[in-house]
Amino acid sequence: MTATEVYRFVFKPMGLAQIGRVRAVEQEALAHMERPDLLRRNTEQMWCECLQPPHLCLGAWVGEELAGLGVLYVPERGGCEDLSLILTRLDGRQYASANFKICIVRPCWRGHHLQVELGQRLAAEAKARGIGLLCATASPHNMASVKSLLRLGYCEDSQVEKYGFERTLFYRIN
Ligand SMILES: CC(C)(COP(=O)(O)OP(=O)(O)OC[C@H]1O[C@@H](n2cnc3c(N)ncnc32)[C@H](O)[C@@H]1OP(=O)(O)O)[C@@H](O)C(=O)NCCC(=O)NCCS
Repeated sequence: MTATEVYRFVFKPMGLAQIGRVRAVEQEALAHMERPDLLRRNTEQMWCECLQPPHLCLGAWVGEELAGLGVLYVPERGGCEDLSLILTRLDGRQYASANFKICIVRPCWRGHHLQVELGQRLAAEAKARGIGLLCATASPHNMASVKSLLRLGYCEDSQVEKYGFERTLFYRIN
């Protein structure tokens, strides 16, 4: 992917060398959570995975500042982590699928629809890879995330339990 600019944000793929920046953004978001069940803390191992191919962690930058990030997680077939497997045979059709797994925007950069901007770019990358189905989960109480997913064209599928919390499973035909 090449870097593109919208307003003052520059969107660039992130790599393993930037794990410290990513975890600092996660840490700050967790410290500002209204409710602890809205966002799960990811393990270092999960972040290492997300920061390496075939997955894509896209950062939204303002100069040297990381404002937010989103992850396209491309599971191996049969992986139990893969909620999208529930949906791979939607309408009797078989889809290659991936998850819009994580999206975090630093509190001071919220209000710019960055989740939508990141989600659109990750969906375009998924499409370029032939991925026809995207899924995502959000707490039904996480209104910023639910609104962003709906704005991105995701549809509600079902309620699932994930990370020990209630989550709404969303999907989008890509
Ligand atoms: C979810 C998150 C990424 C969204 O950040 P963002 O892209 O800056 O979202 P915005 O602030 O632009 O808000 C998006 C929409 O939700 C609305 N919104 C924001 N906070 C809200 C709240 N507490 N209640 C209701 N609506 C809210 C906004 O008004 C906006 O609505 P609009 O589309 O009608 O204009 C950010 O809140 C975040 O990082 N949260 C913590 C991490 C998280 O929960 N990630 C999602 C699960 S991985």
